[in-house]
Amino acid sequence: MAKNFNGLLIKFFDNLPAKQSPVRLISYNQRRDLSNTKPNIKKCEEMKKLNWFYNHHLIDISAAKPMVKIHPSNLLFIQKAQDAKHLIRSAQYLQKELPIRISHRINGFRHLPFIVACNPTILAVHELYIRAFYLISEHEPVLDLESEKRFSQMLRRLLDAHKDVVTQLAEGFRECRKYIENEEMITYFLDDTLTSRLGMRILVEHHLELHDEKPNHIGIINTTMRPKDLIEKWCLAVKSLSEHKYSRSPDFKLNGHLNCSFPYIETALDYIIPELLKNSVRATVESHIDSACLPPITITIANNARDFVIRISDRGGGMPEEMVSKILKYHYSTVNESPEDDRLDGGLFGSMMRNDYSSPMAGFGFGLPTSRAYAEYLSGSLTIVSMHGTGTDIYLRLKHINGHSDGFKI
Ligand SMILES: Nc1ncnc2c1ncn2[C@@H]1O[C@H](COP(=O)(O)OP(=O)(O)OP(=O)(O)O)[C@@H](O)[C@H]1O
Ligand SMILES: [Mg+2]
Repeated sequence: MAKNFNGLLIKFFDNLPAKQSPVRLISYNQRRDLSNTKPNIKKCEEMKKLNWFYNHHLIDISAAKPMVKIHPSNLLFIQKAQDAKHLIRSAQYLQKELPIRISHRINGFRHLPFIVACNPTILAVHELYIRAFYLISEHEPVLDLESEKRFSQMLRRLLDAHKDVVTQLAEGFRECRKYIENEEMITYFLDDTLTSRLGMRILVEHHLELHDEKPNHIGIINTTMRPKDLIEKWCLAVKSLSEHKYSRSPDFKLNGHLNCSFPYIETALDYIIPELLKNSVRATVESHIDSACLPPITITIANNARDFVIRISDRGGGMPEEMVSKILKYHYSTVNESPEDDRLDGGLFGSMMRNDYSSPMAGFGFGLPTSRAYAEYLSGSLTIVSMHGTGTDIYLRLKHINGHSDGFKI
């Protein structure tokens, strides 16, 4: 359905008079009533179809309810019951909570500027959320292990169906970027959507992993996470990515509290760390095209009772001061400005980043803003200190999840 509908929408926008400003905002209520008004344009069929996205009474009711966020220590100290009742309780919480969170997000899509909300890629994500809302809320109530099993299978399918949402949003917003006047509104929307998605994925993955007995794990929480191991895993992956495309890669040197370990949720770090490493590798390679050797990237780990910090220092030339505030904005990227230099495999860190071999997120200018949003969601911060002409230090500071009342809630 979405495909045909998207085709119609494209035609609809093709037919807009050139002078009609597409950035004009049509309010949510106006959009709800579109099918009841006498349209002054030919394409009323398309508008009726668009109306489908805005008329869901159950979603309205759900979006009026507050979310019930939980402290990660509630996940950490979960009591595993012999009769697996904890699985039923966890599924019951999700069955109640997820539709509320999803409906809040659907509300976010509904309040986007008209031209953005109608972008086919963004509509496809909007539709995914609506379908997820109905799949979960119309699922049989979880009362025993049999129904819990079916509920978990459905959650697995949903996780898979939603795996490319960040890329889709990045693509969608890039397509309609030129029409967006209120950048701040879009930043709020993306921050909310991406962090709420992270929260929901953490809760769902935690529930699914509660089924397995994994050493040193309670659901999604690694009770003895060693930052060094996680960072080394990503250094290897990014190094091989760089060698694959550039035929060279800087080395990584780790120092600081290499032996520290503590309970943590790796999901967010598994996004943030590779994004930061890829940026540092790209900067290092691009700023040393004529050098035979590349300066190493140094990663320092510092752990204390309250939080832990990961600093990534590169010698990739840094950036001018005025650029530092820009690079935390969605869609700010210098990938397309990179020099077309044959010595860089065609100046290609940009294409390397878009290659199937790498994260599909690359080259959108999403790596840093998304990492910042995730870090802040986890009650942490992402700070950039750059020395133009030398290199850049990025500090990722995150709070521990055990024991502090001012920690974050999922
Ligand atoms: N360590 C760094 N040294 C120099 N410039 C950097 C560094 N990290 C980021 N930048 C600059 O900031 C820009 C934005 O980074 P960001 O990670 O958000 O997007 P991207 O790398 O261009 O694309 P994406 O991460 O979506 O693949 C980069 O294009 C680059 O110009
Ligand atoms: Mg990046």
